[in-house]
Amino acid sequence: MRIPIIAGNWKMNKTVAESVAFVNQIKDHLPATDQVQTALAAPALSLVPMVQAASGSPLKIMAENCYFEDAGAFTGEVSPHALYQAGVHHVILGHSERRKIFGEDDEMINKKVVAALRNGLCPIVCCDDTMGRRVANDDKIHWVVGRILADLKGLTTDEIRKVTVAYEPDWAIGSGQSADPSQAEEGCYLIRQTICDMYGDDVANDVRILYGGSVTPDNVSALMAKNDIDGVLVGSDSLDPETFLKIVNH
Ligand code: PGA
Repeated sequence: MRIPIIAGNWKMNKTVAESVAFVNQIKDHLPATDQVQTALAAPALSLVPMVQAASGSPLKIMAENCYFEDAGAFTGEVSPHALYQAGVHHVILGHSERRKIFGEDDEMINKKVVAALRNGLCPIVCCDDTMGRRVANDDKIHWVVGRILADLKGLTTDEIRKVTVAYEPDWAIGSGQSADPSQAEEGCYLIRQTICDMYGDDVANDVRILYGGSVTPDNVSALMAKNDIDGVLVGSDSLDPETFLKIVNH
């Protein structure tokens, strides 16, 4: 059985003090981890104090990015080794903002996925979908399949089981216009089929695939009711503790 994940992605928001206050406000109101796994991705500066504040609670703290080398002359980058040692065991990689604003390509994201796994981190790999809202199926299939083949290239069966994928149509991110559940399911299904072609049925049935893009307390239930949607990645509506709790406890 795939335990669903509900993960917030704060992006470049919140001070350290605000981050810790948020954790303290929600940590006693989360579902048991055998029902839903709750996580928050936060800016690097907030991670260590958040890990301390969340200690003993079901909440997992995630990085929003890391580099593909463990240490060295890489000014400004975040080491996957240092993250793991600091108690941060999950990392978002390949978010569409990293791809679009910071120019990360599939090759770099694949290196980051490999480095994260090498250091014990579980990556949430974002598979953006830059195609328009309604495009020819073939284009969409090629796009999503290409992303998955490139970003997850060379992973072993054990490694791929530690990966979570998030399907995020670009036009739905931050737009207030979520994919409808059947469109979201279509993208997540395609990703699962691609993993099935790469690793077989058993592995594909174990890997969790999330939907992300304008998830709210009002649409989360319908999205998560779909077969291939194992949870959600939430941007804007993860910034307010009460709204985030409504999504987590929907
Ligand atoms: P959004 O962001 O919920 O604000 O659309 C989602 C994301 O960027 O992962």
